[in-house]
Amino acid sequence: KVGMNVQDLSKLLHRDTAEIIKKLFLLGIVTNQNQSLDEDTIEILAADYGIDAKQKEEEDLADIDRFFDEAQVNEENLAPRAPVVTIMGHVDHGKTTLLDYLRKTNVTEGEAGGITQHIGAYQARLDGRLITFLDTPGHAAFTEMRARGANVTDITVLVVAADDGVQPQTIEAINHAKSAGTPVIVAVNKIDKEGANPEQVMNQLMAYDLVPEEYGGSTIFVKISAKKGENIEQLLEMILLEADVLELQADPTVPARGSVIEARLDKGRGPVSTVLVQQGTLHVGDPVVVGNTYGRIRTMQNEKGVDLKEAKPATPVQITGLNEVPSAGDRFVVMADEKSARAAGEERAKRAREEVRNAGSVVTLDTLFNTM
Ligand code: GTP
Ligand code: MG
Repeated sequence: KVGMNVQDLSKLLHRDTAEIIKKLFLLGIVTNQNQSLDEDTIEILAADYGIDAKQKEEEDLADIDRFFDEAQVNEENLAPRAPVVTIMGHVDHGKTTLLDYLRKTNVTEGEAGGITQHIGAYQARLDGRLITFLDTPGHAAFTEMRARGANVTDITVLVVAADDGVQPQTIEAINHAKSAGTPVIVAVNKIDKEGANPEQVMNQLMAYDLVPEEYGGSTIFVKISAKKGENIEQLLEMILLEADVLELQADPTVPARGSVIEARLDKGRGPVSTVLVQQGTLHVGDPVVVGNTYGRIRTMQNEKGVDLKEAKPATPVQITGLNEVPSAGDRFVVMADEKSARAAGEERAKRAREEVRNAGSVVTLDTLFNTM
């Protein structure tokens, strides 16, 4: 509001400039219509007209991160939610085979119609309880998303092939999980193979503080064959057990918020994004700000291509209706109406452009000094 003059203010308040000048005169302030007013004067005057000038200014629509504060949920409405699991491990140790097995055996259960599509995440079911698996390449999911401050993973499943043991990317995965603070469940894979040595894997991992319970530690190890489907149910049980320890909860009653898992531009449907709902319930028709863009949820589908009307916490859904393609790890928040979603989205895009410009000028300056 700095630099606003009497004329601007009269327009804003839908009053005559003469009336404003007179009012200010009565308050002991002598002005003309082109004189700029300071913030205090504007506030006093606005208050005189029954308007709280400060209120609107203090709410920064573009600051969507504030919706992720714990204070933004109601304790009383907290309900258990499904764990969100990322599968990581060294090349060829069996991540995809495991995910494929889970998808085949669990996802179709009790769901009608649809053809399985890759949406970057899906849910498996055991004894009526859901587990959400992120299907993006583990490392990329962690680095890209965490770079944007989105920590969506609750539990890491570390796949280690029993015939190959701990390898460079195994260690990398352990480090990712450690810095994200997620517990690790070790799936010792390929136990069906000749030459498989699960005990050796367990011994090797002790050097990385992953000590099995039978050796006095607290890390859960499950010996599996992703190919044969051996002990997979036990693995799911252990994931649920770990989830119970974590007491994962969310408030399904607040306006939905969450993170983008992946996004792309579809020729026919426009921007298509998979988002994970982290709090609240997402509905078709909801106005949203997503990263630096915005829109209104036009369609919402699960990994089976089934249309959904709403999605509760820990549910991954593919959505359409955004104006642009967001990035993996971007946060989304449902706004009160389309107008504020648009305002927030545009403001965020503007700030992002400014940031790029500012960063750009620093580089230019550096370049200048370096060439001197
Ligand atoms: P990247 O995506 O390249 O990092 O590999 P990945 O970890 O996804 O491994 P993938 O699932 O593609 O498996 C690699 C190879 O191991 C494939 O030929 C699988 O058939 C085989 N494989 C995976 N799990 C098992 C298992 O439990 N037993 C046996 N015998 N082979 C397996
Ligand atoms: Mg793979």
